[in-house]
Amino acid sequence: MDDLFSLRDKVAVVTGGAGLLGKQFCAALASYGARVAAIDLLSVQKGPFPERWETLTASGQIRLFRTDITQREDLERCLAEIQQMWGVPEILINNAAIDSPPDAPAEENGPFETYPEKSLDRVLAVNVKGTWIACQVFGGAMAVAGRGSIINIASTYGLVSPNQDIYEYKRRAGQEWYKPAAYATTKSAVLNLTRYLSTYWAKKGVRVNTLTPAGIYVSQDKEFLEEYTKRIPVGRMAESHEMNGAVVFLASNASSYMTGSNLVVDGGWTAW
Ligand SMILES: NC(=O)c1ccc[n+]([C@@H]2O[C@H](COP(=O)([O-])OP(=O)(O)OC[C@H]3O[C@@H](n4cnc5c(N)ncnc54)[C@H](O)[C@@H]3O)[C@@H](O)[C@H]2O)c1
Repeated sequence: MDDLFSLRDKVAVVTGGAGLLGKQFCAALASYGARVAAIDLLSVQKGPFPERWETLTASGQIRLFRTDITQREDLERCLAEIQQMWGVPEILINNAAIDSPPDAPAEENGPFETYPEKSLDRVLAVNVKGTWIACQVFGGAMAVAGRGSIINIASTYGLVSPNQDIYEYKRRAGQEWYKPAAYATTKSAVLNLTRYLSTYWAKKGVRVNTLTPAGIYVSQDKEFLEEYTKRIPVGRMAESHEMNGAVVFLASNASSYMTGSNLVVDGGWTAW
């Protein structure tokens, strides 16, 4: 039982590893013994930092690779480097994704009818195509090696629609503001890519599951927090470390009979 959650000697890849949840996932996997390749466009990392981040990066147990997941050749180069350094990865967390940031052009958070095609292409390229290519490159190598666990990060907004009533306060203040459909569309796509690959690689020993988080607290504005938290059964947003248990579970032998599933960690958001 002691070793049920152990990731000792396993090699993990976390895309978007410099981001809010990505850093948490890297530190959690490393704390359970894995060597972790954090893949991200960014090299400069901003906080908040997980516990032991400094130690784990300084010791080389977590290594950052500046790579764009939408570029197949870059990911192939990255795989070759990781393989040479540590061996074939056994864990892949497809965590990198983009949404419309608060400073996005107004039309990205405007009505569905006028959402820009260019923005749709960008969101699809990272969230769907990037995840897809990472599965081909890293998942393909895992299937050849005959073992692996892939965890695709979705969102409650891939299961249910964003509740646009949350943003009524913005519209009352004169902004025509809607949570865009592009992000939600990509997160639903991730759920079925999981199901497809879980059956496709089942006999090859590669498990594929989705982890579905709800909103993470990062000092959002007061009105948003009020509107969001009154709609969530537990009455608060998640802290960034609160997905770590699910990630370690899905990565480890503790979930050895689980594939094609979706683990929802959402404070009850989708329960009512
Ligand atoms: N934060 C939330 O409230 C929340 C809620 C539900 C689901 N999620 C999901 O969790 C995951 C992580 O979210 P986060 O809040 O940590 O986001 P984040 O923006 O903090 O991190 C995402 C990281 O991905 C990287 N990235 C973007 N495009 C890339 C590319 N082409 N190649 C390589 N790296 C790239 C970014 O540089 C960034 O570091 C995402 O899949 C997101 O959809 C987040």
